[in-house]
Amino acid sequence: MAASTPRSLIEWLILQVKLLIIWFLKAGPMPKHIGFIMDGNRRYSRTKGIPVRDGHSDGFAAMRRVLELCFRLDVKCVSVYAFSIENFKRSQDEVDNIMTLAKEGLEGFCEQDDLLQANGVRLNVIGDRSLLPPDVKEAVLKAETLTRNNSRAILNICFPYTSRHEMTCAIDAAAKGSLPGAELTERDVDFNLFTTQGLSPPVDIFIRSSGVTRLSDFLLWQSCENTQIHFTQTYWPQYGLRELGPVLLDYQRRVWHKRVGFRT
Ligand SMILES: *[C@@H]1O[C@H](CO)[C@@H](O)[C@H](O)[C@H]1NC(C)=O
Repeated sequence: MAASTPRSLIEWLILQVKLLIIWFLKAGPMPKHIGFIMDGNRRYSRTKGIPVRDGHSDGFAAMRRVLELCFRLDVKCVSVYAFSIENFKRSQDEVDNIMTLAKEGLEGFCEQDDLLQANGVRLNVIGDRSLLPPDVKEAVLKAETLTRNNSRAILNICFPYTSRHEMTCAIDAAAKGSLPGAELTERDVDFNLFTTQGLSPPVDIFIRSSGVTRLSDFLLWQSCENTQIHFTQTYWPQYGLRELGPVLLDYQRRVWHKRVGFRT
């Protein structure tokens, strides 16, 4: 069809521009670990007048897109906040829908040429798995086992997660692993965090979409020190290079600034 030609030309041009931006960004220092609070699926659905279920599907598609982008940019580790322990308080229908999406998503991710295997990504699902339905638990275990030896990058899916639960488990494990009466150190706790156990480097950038400025119990221990925190107005399903690009430029500017500072 004649009408499709200009459209595909424009798409092709947009792709070239994106690749150029990626190439340009890759020339600078890259963060080793980015954490995302993927917020705004429900508000996005309301704004567009579509069912919440579709909002979550679009959010899932956005996650895949952003992950591909991060791995293409050679970000070593990405953590995504998929589901909070608190989210179990939502309607049964919505929770069931998210669980189904997660299970299908995990199964898809692990196929031969898909996101994880194609990019050499090790998957860690971190959080309180005892709360997951058995079929989802099984999909999680399968995906983790399959990607266990991948070492180019790491994906932490926080599901169902809260930072306080992670810290409590870490302190508990540290206490159980030490001699009676011995004093626990920060290092003991740090060593026992789910993220450390999954080989994650320190968090450089913390991003939350959809205009909410709360930390919501996500990577609190991990992002207490040198982490840059960014809030963006964009709803998660619409998040992409347009939002991530400026964040990375800001990161690079700060890294360069620090380096110059050291020299003088
Ligand atoms: C990962 O490596 C271990 C040890 O070399 C091996 O036993 C296991 O089968 C490997 N797993 C996969 C999925 O390749």
